[in-house]
Amino acid sequence: MRTIDRMGKIAGTITLPGDKSISHRAAFLGALSREGVRVDNFSSGADCASTLKCLSQFGCRVVREDGMVSISGGEEFLDPRGVLDAGNSGTTARLMTGLLAGIPGFFAVISGDESLRLRPMARVVRPLQAMGARIDGCEGGERLPLAIRGARLSGGEHSPSVASAQVKTALLLAGLSASGSTTVNERRLTRDHTEIMLDFLEVPHHREDLSITVYPCNQVPGGNWTIPGDFSAASFWIVAGALCSERGLKIEDTGMNPTRTGALRVLERMGLNPEVRNLRTWGGENVADLFVRTSLLRGTVIEAEEIPSLVDELPILALAATQAQGITEVRGARELRFKECDRIHAVAEGLSALGADIREQDDGWIIKGPCRLHGAKVRSYDDHRIVMTLSIASLVSEGEITIDDTSSVAISDPGFFENIEKVKGRHAA
Ligand code: S3P
Repeated sequence: MRTIDRMGKIAGTITLPGDKSISHRAAFLGALSREGVRVDNFSSGADCASTLKCLSQFGCRVVREDGMVSISGGEEFLDPRGVLDAGNSGTTARLMTGLLAGIPGFFAVISGDESLRLRPMARVVRPLQAMGARIDGCEGGERLPLAIRGARLSGGEHSPSVASAQVKTALLLAGLSASGSTTVNERRLTRDHTEIMLDFLEVPHHREDLSITVYPCNQVPGGNWTIPGDFSAASFWIVAGALCSERGLKIEDTGMNPTRTGALRVLERMGLNPEVRNLRTWGGENVADLFVRTSLLRGTVIEAEEIPSLVDELPILALAATQAQGITEVRGARELRFKECDRIHAVAEGLSALGADIREQDDGWIIKGPCRLHGAKVRSYDDHRIVMTLSIASLVSEGEITIDDTSSVAISDPGFFENIEKVKGRHAA
């Protein structure tokens, strides 16, 4: 349990953890490389630690010193002695299923924590089975644990019915060890970190509009680079700055991949005027320093097409909407019900308890603002993004907010509460 007082005005500089999605991908591609990858600013979150632990369990070499991580695969993967525990991380479970399904003869069981064992896995299992994968699991492979017996896969063409970067990447990782080419046709463009990393590491692939094709690849070449700060972690501070920083908040080295920054575009539409400084690229990914200060926000409509570019930012955008003039409507976001918790429900429950006018819909919310928030006891459902949203709410609420359990921030940003201490009550930049 943690009680957070009204934060008042904030100012200063925020440093972010390395991007979680990019860190997972660097680890899995490193596992397919004998030369190995060496990355700086690897995510400090528990989700990426789960990935590294699993990789070392099946024989990959993982060396971690502070933010620097080196990962390489050996001659072959070894059957792990125990269950591969993906913890709370959907990305670990799904990408690892794709990676291992195509290693002939290999055997492993993948499981996770209570929340992960409830999350849908058929979205990766079914297309992998169509490539020839031998995977069984709870409820016929709908849920973890999954048992994988690696097989020679055949590639093929896939058009997933959900817009999911995890599904896309799982199929591409499997495709690298398949016997023919593997194409994924997306309905909507999801985060393209895998494609950028394939490009950077010079792994043969072909991209056209919403399609990406990979070819059999015996060895992924090695590489060194620095991982940008996590835009999803930055989004909490972008909203915090927009609500409560007259002198401004600087958010350093933020990943600015356009497939991730939908929330910034929405906030600009709502009236935010962020400054994007020092734009550059690291490992093929855009990076910039962001500078945000208090802005008057107005309501907006967020439609299904935009959802993949801001799926993890919807809880904090909902908080921003409670402080905006007019109605904000979020539609086509049913996927949020299948994240670390049912985020549509958790956000509606938490923000209503603080006094917001928010109506839960099947696929989003209708939020009427601006609304004075007050203190209350709220539930996080052990979900890092819910904890951070409710904590940032304490900037604009009138009393203390008590959150039942805040330990889940370690999943993506262990330094979150330190950043709060650093910027709160400050009026000068
Ligand atoms: C992720 C993709 C998203 C996102 C998750 C990380 C990734 O999930 O919600 O936090 O690293 O590929 P989906 O693509 O499955 O929606």
